[in-house]
Amino acid sequence: MSDKKNKCDIGFIGLGVMGKNLVLNLADNGYSIAAFDVDPSKVSEAVEQDAGENQNGTQRVFGCSSFEEVVSNIKSPNIVVLSVPAGAIVDSVCESLIKAGISKDDIIIDTGNSLWTDTVEREKKYSNDFIFFSSAVSGGEVGARFGPALMPSGPAHAWHHVEPIWAAIAAKVDSATGKPLERTKPGEVITQGDSCSAYIGPAGAGHYVKMVHNGIEYADMQLICEAYHVMRSGLGLGCNEIADIFASWNEGILDSYLMEISVEVLRHVEPETNEHMVDLILDKAGQKGTGLWTAISSLEMGCPAPTISQAVFARSLSSFKQLRTQSAGILSGPEVKVYSEQEKTAIIAQLHDALYCSKICAYAQGFQLMKIASKEREWDLNFASIAKIWRAGCIIRAAFLQKITDAFNRDPNLENLLIDSFFSEELAKYQHNWRQGVATSMMMGIPVGAISSSLGYYDAMRCETLPANLLQGQRDYFGAHTFSRIDRPEEYKYHVKWSDEGQPLTKVN
Ligand code: 6PG
Repeated sequence: MSDKKNKCDIGFIGLGVMGKNLVLNLADNGYSIAAFDVDPSKVSEAVEQDAGENQNGTQRVFGCSSFEEVVSNIKSPNIVVLSVPAGAIVDSVCESLIKAGISKDDIIIDTGNSLWTDTVEREKKYSNDFIFFSSAVSGGEVGARFGPALMPSGPAHAWHHVEPIWAAIAAKVDSATGKPLERTKPGEVITQGDSCSAYIGPAGAGHYVKMVHNGIEYADMQLICEAYHVMRSGLGLGCNEIADIFASWNEGILDSYLMEISVEVLRHVEPETNEHMVDLILDKAGQKGTGLWTAISSLEMGCPAPTISQAVFARSLSSFKQLRTQSAGILSGPEVKVYSEQEKTAIIAQLHDALYCSKICAYAQGFQLMKIASKEREWDLNFASIAKIWRAGCIIRAAFLQKITDAFNRDPNLENLLIDSFFSEELAKYQHNWRQGVATSMMMGIPVGAISSSLGYYDAMRCETLPANLLQGQRDYFGAHTFSRIDRPEEYKYHVKWSDEGQPLTKVN
């Protein structure tokens, strides 16, 4: 480590894109950092970039060549932030820090996209060695550099050590308008406004909330992609035309970061071919797993999240490129229709409303999932606060999130966003076009799985009576699984000998 009279405020392990930017963000906010990566070139890169960006000449990022050097060069209680890939590497870094002399009162903060159950286990596993804290980070590389949304969780008694640091580096929102306060240049610091960081709860809670954030992110992205698909393939619009439509949508109720970046992606022209970049990108979606984890959790908890799950399926289906190419030559679709300008305008308006309503459904699913998890795990999640910290910094940031905060402020025990007065009225107002949009897309033969499954979810939620009565009859028929009756107490279970008309009903309990 280069010469340094005082010890650093924070230790940092992992200087990939996210790690390095978090380090520079910490440095801008006045913290000195002892930084280490197994790749020495990443250490020098972080030190050099900070030296280049730092105007006042005082060194803020100190490169270390070992875990020991990090641990022996930070102030007590030692706070070491990890930005390493989720999974086994987190444990191997923790073990190395133990060997390097980290002790019981020291705090290790995992900022990766770890599986929440791993975080719960780690907190128990390392409780005699150090305090295991976790903080999910959203916002990608720019967020990490200039203000991410942070979802910290872990032992409550350690939070006061982390809180001021996290409040400083997180994205900020104007308290009066709810609009993000942008920080775009190195060295800039924003000290006013609401910070997009709040203590989420005990171990695992923060990573669970971030996992659901990502599930909603998958849904939000897929919904935008489906609207694009209908416009591009069904209406035959060009990339710039679609970008213009999205840009205008971004001025209203669909205002969001994902809408904004979709406009930029659609407008981007590749210089070599002079074609729109998006037309040259292979249509096979990647995924790191957080959307899948959300879908699995929703299935395990019995909390339907069809829009989110559909978004995961859509990515998986996209990966079967060869099979799709083959079946495209075999399977027939409807006749291709040419739309008049007037019809196009009407369909675009339908898609706008369909996107808005489907988005409400995706958030309703994500928040209900968090609610059930919170109850099961006794996390006592604060949903108004979660929606608040997602207003800036994170990938799903949107004007819309303020409405979710308002809904949970009206009723902190709200079971599902759909039944909030604001959202139920919005859905009533826009549902006609939503239905039209789904019908039109289906008649075109364009897959709109996320938009249509959202509508299915909405309609199922509206049904006081679902056909599960017949389903229970089927189950009882082939498996004597019993059923309850609507005219008797629910706990009384009955079985019928279905093939024998004359047989009396049997009450089995
Ligand atoms: C964020 C993002 C970030 C990342 C995910 C999703 O909130 O900053 O969600 O965590 O983009 O890993 O990646 P995949 O689309 O590859 O699953």
